[in-house]
Amino acid sequence: MRDVAAEQSERSAPARREALKEVLTQARGCVRCPELAATRRTVVFGAGNADADLMFIGEAPGASEDEQGIPFVGRAGKLLEKLLEEIGLQRTQVFIANTLKCRPPGNRDPLPVEIENCHEYLLRQVELIEPSVICTLGNFSTKLLRGDPTGITRLHGQPEVLVLGARAVRLYPIYHPAAALYTPRMLETLREDFSRLPELLAMGAPEQPPVQDFAEPPPALAEPSPQAAQESAEADQLGLF
Ligand code: URA
Repeated sequence: MRDVAAEQSERSAPARREALKEVLTQARGCVRCPELAATRRTVVFGAGNADADLMFIGEAPGASEDEQGIPFVGRAGKLLEKLLEEIGLQRTQVFIANTLKCRPPGNRDPLPVEIENCHEYLLRQVELIEPSVICTLGNFSTKLLRGDPTGITRLHGQPEVLVLGARAVRLYPIYHPAAALYTPRMLETLREDFSRLPELLAMGAPEQPPVQDFAEPPPALAEPSPQAAQESAEADQLGLF
């Protein structure tokens, strides 16, 4: 059995970043959810540092995100940036993604089948970015990653070690910034939970599980279209990673 730390040190940050761009290309050609593929303007893959220690996972893109192809660019995103600044971090130092890469029409809730369809992209992102801490924002991503229906009101601010795919991370559920926009008490709680992030990050990654040898390579994601390949080649220019 191989040691994960040794295994991971074999994969350099540039190599993981290139692999992440391949996943971006695959996601951009994805048609697993026919309604979302037909109605989206862009695939909002995620943005930020591809080698981030801290990753945020929200719910799904809204109208502004769908238009710009970047997550959390609306009012909730501005609040997220402000809270990050308060703990001395910039948006470019973290990686921000969502449970769904496509906007649900009319901002309806993501459907269970859509979350399931998109889950593999999220797991690949976690595997390649190798964060130490994952902050789930609100109920959707918290329930998805924990595989449990317990809600954010009970769980917020309580870190736990979780294994996602091959990666052990410190999961830290917090309220969704969109919910805190209109509820001052929730904003106060969100700010308090945010203030514990530096100490959580200082703990580093939890002990990693042993790597398993797979006889078969993992199943392929969606086939990339030529246009998607071209677009992801431009990812650098968008400052995504
Ligand atoms: N809300 C989310 O959950 N994600 C976004 O990208 C924007 C708003």
